[in-house]
Amino acid sequence: MKNVLIIGSTGQIGSELTMKLRAEYAEGNIVAGYIPSAPPTGVLAESGPSEVVDITNAKQIAEVVDKYHIDTIYNLAALLSAVAENKPQLAWHIGIDGLMNVLEVSREKKCAVFTPSSIGSFGPNAPKDGTPQDTIQQPRTMYGVTKVSGELLSNYYALKFGVDTRSVRFPGLISYVTPPGGGTTDYAVDIYYSAVKGEKFVCPIAPGTFMDMMYMPDALRAAIEIMEANPTRLRHRNSFNIASMSFDPNIIYAKIKEYIPEFEMEFQVDPLRQAIAESWPNKLDDTCARVEWDWKPQYDLDAMTRDMIEKLRAKLKK
Ligand code: SER
Repeated sequence: MKNVLIIGSTGQIGSELTMKLRAEYAEGNIVAGYIPSAPPTGVLAESGPSEVVDITNAKQIAEVVDKYHIDTIYNLAALLSAVAENKPQLAWHIGIDGLMNVLEVSREKKCAVFTPSSIGSFGPNAPKDGTPQDTIQQPRTMYGVTKVSGELLSNYYALKFGVDTRSVRFPGLISYVTPPGGGTTDYAVDIYYSAVKGEKFVCPIAPGTFMDMMYMPDALRAAIEIMEANPTRLRHRNSFNIASMSFDPNIIYAKIKEYIPEFEMEFQVDPLRQAIAESWPNKLDDTCARVEWDWKPQYDLDAMTRDMIEKLRAKLKK
């Protein structure tokens, strides 16, 4: 990995992954691909090259790959789960037509490709606890349908054309940098903002609803380590279960209260997000990632909470 194109570089994952890649691969071109409605700003804009790359425009992708001699593409363009339920055609267009463009360009120009999958690739028929790497998926959301289809399409391009596709199934990602937009796990980010601002948190997810979550530094490391992994050890490609913590709203609330005792929360359950959350696993089994490329998370709920509160206090000047 030397010259890297990040498609969706200004989004929740891309904004941080681009900066981490620029820090770690300083000799290469780390190109921030963006759509005109979401251009890079600040340090993201200043620290390296950026180009308009709309994933639905194959020619644009190919031109940027040629211009910077790109060898690896991080395909981070997607609609999150709740938004995708309201715009299913657009979710498919970006998630699958867009992925097809990335894979075709990569086949021609010999790029490796990372396209994240998600806990959302599973549905209610999957085992809920210790959800295995290889099991029935059958998602019932458009987000999940695009994620499973993306996994299959990526594996197909690896088997049929030798395109080096690899990826992980991300849990809900928690970060103090760029907020997510329209996901089901977003509450676990929003709750920290409310706590640090001294506001009561109105939780859209019901107590007792468990989902896998992960602190962004672990997620970024996973995205890089899987692309750097020794391919001869990989029995799987798209996509590896990864996990670090699983909690319900009361558990994260209690943890934050250890550090901010006056913090309060009430429930106003959002039926759309709740139905999505209930169709997803409680906790994934990530043994294959641990065995095949030495995946290991560094943050548990306590370590993440301490860091989130400290960083958000500095960011929000609280
Ligand atoms: N964070 C995503 C969502 O909630 C799941 O991968 O949509």
